[in-house]
Order: sequence, then structure tokens, then C-alpha cells
Amino acid sequence: MMDSGRALPHWSHLDLITNIAGQAPENAGREASRVDTRVHDLLRENKYLENPKKKRSVNMLGKIRWTMIFSLVSVLAMSLAACGPATTANPTAAPRVTQAATAAIPTAAPRATQATGQETGAATPATMPTAEAKAPQAVALMATKNPTVGEILTNSQGMTLYTFKNDKPGESTCYDACAQNWPPLSVAKGEQPKAGEGVSGKLGVIERKDGSYQVTYDDMPLYYYKTDTKPGDTNGQGLNNVWYAASVAPGGSAATAAGGKIALLLPESKTTRYEAHDRPDFENKLKELCPNCQIIYSNANQDANQQLSQAEAALTNGAQVLVLDPVDSAAAAAIADKAKAQGVPVIAYDRLILNSNNVNYYISFDNYKVGQLQAQSLVDRLNQEGVKNPVIVMINGAPTDNNAKLFKEGAHSVFDPLVKAGQLTIAKEYDTPDWSPDQAQNEMQQALTALGNKVDGIYCANDGTASGATAAMKAAGMKPLPPVTGQDAELAAIQRILSGEQYMTVYKAIKPEAEAAAQLAYDLLTNTKVPASMTESKTVNNGTFDVPSVLLTPVAVTKDNVKTTVVKDGFWTVQQICTGAYSSTCQTAGLG
Ligand code: BGC
Repeated sequence: MMDSGRALPHWSHLDLITNIAGQAPENAGREASRVDTRVHDLLRENKYLENPKKKRSVNMLGKIRWTMIFSLVSVLAMSLAACGPATTANPTAAPRVTQAATAAIPTAAPRATQATGQETGAATPATMPTAEAKAPQAVALMATKNPTVGEILTNSQGMTLYTFKNDKPGESTCYDACAQNWPPLSVAKGEQPKAGEGVSGKLGVIERKDGSYQVTYDDMPLYYYKTDTKPGDTNGQGLNNVWYAASVAPGGSAATAAGGKIALLLPESKTTRYEAHDRPDFENKLKELCPNCQIIYSNANQDANQQLSQAEAALTNGAQVLVLDPVDSAAAAAIADKAKAQGVPVIAYDRLILNSNNVNYYISFDNYKVGQLQAQSLVDRLNQEGVKNPVIVMINGAPTDNNAKLFKEGAHSVFDPLVKAGQLTIAKEYDTPDWSPDQAQNEMQQALTALGNKVDGIYCANDGTASGATAAMKAAGMKPLPPVTGQDAELAAIQRILSGEQYMTVYKAIKPEAEAAAQLAYDLLTNTKVPASMTESKTVNNGTFDVPSVLLTPVAVTKDNVKTTVVKDGFWTVQQICTGAYSSTCQTAGLG
């Protein structure tokens, strides 16, 4: 509760009382008479003595005056009785807390009146006038449901409290300018904050470097934010990714406020990236951002209906954000629309969700570029080998996957001009349902039969289809194998590249992709403003609107740069690659 300076000379008399409590006994009598005079002056300053209309206030202030004088006498008596300096007689007297607080942020100091009241309270006869001044409230923390960030810690007036990621348990690192913007939640020396209903974490107090005392929750120091002016404001939420409304949940730091359920819905498991990289990279990052968040994970095994059921189950289970890598980019619009109807934001992960307004973000690679890298590498290799007018086979990805369409378009942008110029022949071309390696093997087998094994190069859209095509060529007795492209830098593909069974792959650093998805999911969960640097204003049109997009850059990998790409990034270690039969080829590639 704040005192307006005009309503009551409250601060001044408090100062004076505190001052007396700090005097040596021999000075305290003199100080008491000075206080009496000063209180009189204050009454005069406020014109309470001259204005008859203010008579009631005068009466009240008169009572305060009596209480103060009585307090002084008690303090003096206690000091003398203890035969010690009065400075030790009042251990509960509040230090003056100086803090940069806005009008809406209560300061700690008024609580000092409690201490003075209590010191004299026991001895106060019932007839004695008592202070009627509004008793300042002790610091109490409340669990408050905030419409934007969920259940958070506030003070008793509903002002949001924050934690700072750079702090350590039991230690504030926010001083000077920082503390101006983020006033610490202060208490008087010796005062313990109180826990309101629903606040089950550990409350504590730390001493700051400036000698003031700050409240902690589960050991993390608590702050207000300067521009929060009324209860419910959360203007500091997510600022610089280091300030978060304090969660009531145990562990209590950043933004697990709303319980934090995020669904990660991946499309298949035949391609190894999803279980080996996407899932663990996403989970690790989210755990780091939000230790108490729960991830609802499902893999649809290339079944679009199953993915729909999994998404529905996740929504029923309380998912607050969907991160969806769709089996079927068009059918997934129904999932996005359902999520939207329940107020759940959706991130299209790796594959775009088409024809829906209800996609918040798209995170992927430049997939057209992936196709171009594959095709250009193949053309370059055939040139290097001196093959004139090569005959190639194209094994594309799943027609339901928007990425497959982009890879194909990118590849054709390289091949088609050569076809037109009569310098290359695409003898056979297949779209491969479900990206199935077995299906790719069948396709390649058909092509080889039709072409009498006369094939100079094979464009495969990913490493899984490349493994199928390679198996078909081996089964047909082709040796040496013509150059084959791929994508994903799967471990088996890197090994095939080293042993010469596959020419290239496209390395897409999944870690930054999965981590960006986790960060965005977390930002959406906590209603945090996404920094412009995240998307760099990029968008991709999904047939309905321009979806804000994070687009990463793919890299072509051949034997020559395995070391400086996938190994350097720790995508695979040398130990993982160079097993058994591959150890000798590893040495020639400089990996041994
Ligand atoms: C992904 C590829 C993956 C393929 C099969 C595409 O959407 O971008 O990395 O190999 O799906 O799952």
C-alpha cells in the first residue's frame, strides 16, 4: 500500500523514530524532544493545525504523535535496561531501502513501521492512543493466473515478478543500470517474505552488494520490471531471452508458467535423421530453455491418417504448441486448422504445411537449393569422368511432401537446360511414395531392366532412396557403380561415400534447425516476442499466405569435405564413421 506524501507525514515520522532507535542512550532523550518538535512542524507544514475541516486528521496525527513519543520512551527504557548501546536494541528497525521503484512498485521501507509498532505494542496500555495509520503489508508472494503467460508469481497486488537467467542461485548479478530497469523485490533486514496460496517453492532472502535485501524464490532472486505499471503487465517477459516472469512451478525460473506442453510430430522413421538428430536435438534444446516443459512426441511412420490422430491426441492431452513435420503437406492443413480452433499455434517443421492460414512459422532449409546442389554435383562428376551426353535416372521423393517437389524443381532447373541442349538424357524418372528405400529399389530395378543397365548417373533425392537404388544396381551386377546423389548425410551414406558406392550427399545441419524450432515453440508457449533476427524477414508462400520462415543453408558433401562438414560439426564422429571395413578408406580420406 502506498502513502501519498500529502495524506500522512508517514515517512518523516518513521525516519525520526528509526533515528532515535539508532541513538546512544545518553542522546535519546534529546532526540525524543527533537522528534516531538518535528512532528509538530510536520502537522503545521501540512496545515492540519490551522484548518478546522481537517480536525479528524489532526486527531489521528495527534495519536501518532503520542505513539511515537511512547515508542521513544520504550526504546530508551529498553536501551538503558540492556546497558548497551541503543544501536543494538532495535535489530528489527528497517534500513532505509533505496530502490528505483516506479509508482506501481511498492517499496520495502514502509514495513519498518511494523517493527516500531511491535516493539512498543506489548507494553501499550489499552487506553493509550495508538497509530491508526494504514499498516504496511509484509512482502507476500502470490500465484496469479496471467492470461498471456499462465500461472506466475506476483506480489500481493498482482505485479509480475521476474527472474534473470544470468543470475545464479542465491546471487543477483543485476546492479546499477540493470537494477534501475529491474528493481529487486526488497525486504527489510530480518524480514521474511510470506507465501500466498499456491506458492509452494522455497522463499528466501539474500543480501545484495549494496546492503539491501532481496527476496528469492527457489533460490532465484526476484525483480519487478520498470515498465510494468499495473497488475497483469508482463512487458518484461522474454526480454533478451534472459528475463522471464517467475514461474510458480518448483524450479521456478523461466517461463514454465503455463505447464508447458509442446507436441513434436515427426513423419517417419525409415530415414534415420528423425530419431538420430531431429528428436534429440529438439528435446535437448527445449529442456535447456524450459526444464519443466513436457514434450508430447509422436512419429507417424509415413501415415497421414495416423499423424492426424496423433495431432488430435496431442491437443486433447493439452499441447499448447504443435511442431509438425507433415507426412502430407496438403492434408496437414486440417491439423493446423484444428489447432488454431483451440488457440494452439503451429510450427511447420522441415516440410511446409500448405493452404492454411494457421501456420505461425516454417523452419526448414532452402530446399530448392538442395535439389540444385544434388543435380549440379552429378553433372560436374559426369563431366569430370568425361562422360558425353550422359543418360541419367531420377528417383525423386514422396509426392505428398512439399520438400520433394522443391528438390525435384531445383534439380530440374539444372538438368533441363542440358536436356534441351541435347547434352543429357533423363531416361527414367520416378516419384517415390513414402520416400520408401524399398520402393526406390523397385524403381531402379525397372529402370535398369528397361535400359539394359546403360545408366551413367542416378539422381536420388535422399540417402534412403540412394540406398535402394544402389542395392538394385549391385543386384544387377553393375561394377563400378555410376555416381549416385543423396541427402541427409546419414551415417551409412557417409560410409558409402568413403567406400565409393555413393558420390555425394547433402548435409543439412539439423541441430540449428531443431534448436530454432525449440526456441520458437518456447517463444510461442510463453508469448515471447520473436526477435527479427530469427527469420530475417524471410517468408515462404504456402498457397494461402506468406509464412514467416527460418531457412537454413544446405551443403554438398563428397569424400573431399566429409571432415570439414559433418565431422567438424560433430554430426558424426570419426569413431562412428570409421568402423571395421571403413577404417582403411577413412585413412585415405584423411579421417583415420
Ligand atoms: C526431408 C529430408 C528427408 C525426407 C524423407 C524430407 O522432407 O527434408 O531430409 O530425407 O523428407 O523423410
